[in-house]
Amino acid sequence: MHALKSTVLALGILAAAVSSAPAFAQVSLSIDAAKPGPVINKNVYGQFAEHLGTGIYEGMWVGPESKIPNTRGWRNDVVGALKALHVPLVRWPGGCFADEYHWRDGIGPRGKRPVKVNTNWGGVPENNAVGTHEFFDLVEMLGADAYVNGNLGTGTPQETAEWVEYMTSEGKSSLAELRAKNGHPAPFKVAYFAVGNEAWGCGGNMKPEYYASLYNHYRTFIKAPPQNRPKLIASGGNDENTTWTDVLSRDAGRGTDGISFHYYTLPTGKWDKKGAAVGFPESEWFSTMAGTLRMDEFIRKNVAVLDKNDPQKKIGFYVDEWGTWYDVEPGTNPGFLFQRNTLRDAVVAALNFNIFHAHADRVRMTNIAQMVNVLQAMIITDKDRMLLTPTYYAYQMYVPFQDATSLPVTLSNNSTYSMNGKGVPGISASAARGKDGKLYVALVNANPSQATDVSMDIPGQMVASVRGQVLTADAMDAHNTFDKPQAIKPAPFSASAAGGKLTVKVPAKAVMVFAVEG
Ligand code: AHR
Repeated sequence: MHALKSTVLALGILAAAVSSAPAFAQVSLSIDAAKPGPVINKNVYGQFAEHLGTGIYEGMWVGPESKIPNTRGWRNDVVGALKALHVPLVRWPGGCFADEYHWRDGIGPRGKRPVKVNTNWGGVPENNAVGTHEFFDLVEMLGADAYVNGNLGTGTPQETAEWVEYMTSEGKSSLAELRAKNGHPAPFKVAYFAVGNEAWGCGGNMKPEYYASLYNHYRTFIKAPPQNRPKLIASGGNDENTTWTDVLSRDAGRGTDGISFHYYTLPTGKWDKKGAAVGFPESEWFSTMAGTLRMDEFIRKNVAVLDKNDPQKKIGFYVDEWGTWYDVEPGTNPGFLFQRNTLRDAVVAALNFNIFHAHADRVRMTNIAQMVNVLQAMIITDKDRMLLTPTYYAYQMYVPFQDATSLPVTLSNNSTYSMNGKGVPGISASAARGKDGKLYVALVNANPSQATDVSMDIPGQMVASVRGQVLTADAMDAHNTFDKPQAIKPAPFSASAAGGKLTVKVPAKAVMVFAVEG
């Protein structure tokens, strides 16, 4: 029995001894609807599409000549599924790929574009069929914002400045005329532009102070019309490291709108043997939950640094790469980072969403890695077939939280999911007032075998009933396959008050999103 009272998302691993088979009392969720918090920027639900494996080529781009039904080269089934997800933002072209990408290789007639080797990802030929115009065609079809990641590692300030000019300029300019000649007279709308990626690693193995100087150098020459000026992103740190946030917010802070941050969940925590995507033991379900919940600690630490260096909160903290990273699917190209996607991934996604909502004032944009066929993907394709993953459904269920107004929540008497002397909070919760005026609640149960009752309390408001969706399954690694593409998908859910109280039974290993009625 635990008397764990936490403001929502006090989500760290609970230290030390906890009994292994606790009998849970009822958990209480209180939502303070009278004290609205910051808006949850829709771009928290951003995606990432890198030139990596079959993430773009095959997975999304098949070319206009393909027999697979497509629109100007982008496959219709995948674009249709992504539209249903209300994808608000896509980051492109990398990742590590971005620091070897030269934008001029990707414009003009496709047949004449140079072929390079994708040295980061599998050493396969990169024919540059997807370039700037094709990317913007995709985001325009999706109705999404564009996040373009520039090349600091092997690029130059001139190349970077000219790419931004090519995309955004509207006056008399040779680059604007070249854009028009290549089929797009109107400027492209660039919502975000990053200067390099992972400068501490694949982006150049730099020290933060050196990168900060380079960032200031590059961004000085990034000029765009005021009405089409992208938010500029300095590429930041990862995991426990807060030094990059500290150095960049001090040395480059005046010229940046956001500092990025990367954190991946590895079940074992080890890069040489990360853990399997399917068929894993419960110990790896537990460590995946515990590892995911560390996102809260990392954001808190970085936000504390930002609050010191940027008390006016001008700088956003953009988690522009996150998600699960497992051992690649046996028999696939190790450079393609293909992994299967299970119920565990959906729970990981939802835990992260609840954490991001709790930090909505600074976390104004994130990008899951990655959109199709790579790492924690929404969609998996095989030739002309496509399937939707549990992570896709988590994103779909959370659509009402895009641009919703966060509401403070308190969990009392939370359950603890424990293993080998460690424990994590069983239930994670988030609430928000949607753009449609409805009050939405998300509940996640990290415990794979114990259902939990959560009683709802919204002071000043009757809770007569709730209606929404639940995603769960019998197996921890439940997943869709091309033979059984609907093996796991959300089911409708509703509950009504009894005796003036509404209690929601949250199944084991489940994600629930519902609207509160009446
Ligand atoms: O998402 C895969 C890779 O992970 C990205 O290219 C890189 O930025 C990170 O290390």
